[in-house]
Amino acid sequence: MWTPGQGTGLHDHGGSSGCFTVLRGSIWETTVDAEGMLTERRYEVGEARSFAEDVIHDVHNEGSAGAVTLHLYRPELAAMTHYAHDGGVLSQTVTRRAGRDW
Ligand SMILES: [Fe+2]
Repeated sequence: MWTPGQGTGLHDHGGSSGCFTVLRGSIWETTVDAEGMLTERRYEVGEARSFAEDVIHDVHNEGSAGAVTLHLYRPELAAMTHYAHDGGVLSQTVTRRAGRDW
């Protein structure tokens, strides 16, 4: 469950590709392109998004109601590195690992 205002912050998937779909409510995704530009898109119930292993994104709930999503990764998600985005430049902040941090 994504509560209103909850989000992941910008992160990668440690080399895994993946996909997600919205089961309830709406969810927003902000992606970063190679030039550091941010793009935001909103997904509604039933919509799905697949992404390659190099995507960096922030998944968040900007709505006023809760949202539920389902995420799948291949290979299994083992690590996620988080990023700050300042002036179009990404910098790594922390890496979280499966089995240790979640
Ligand atoms: Fe993600």
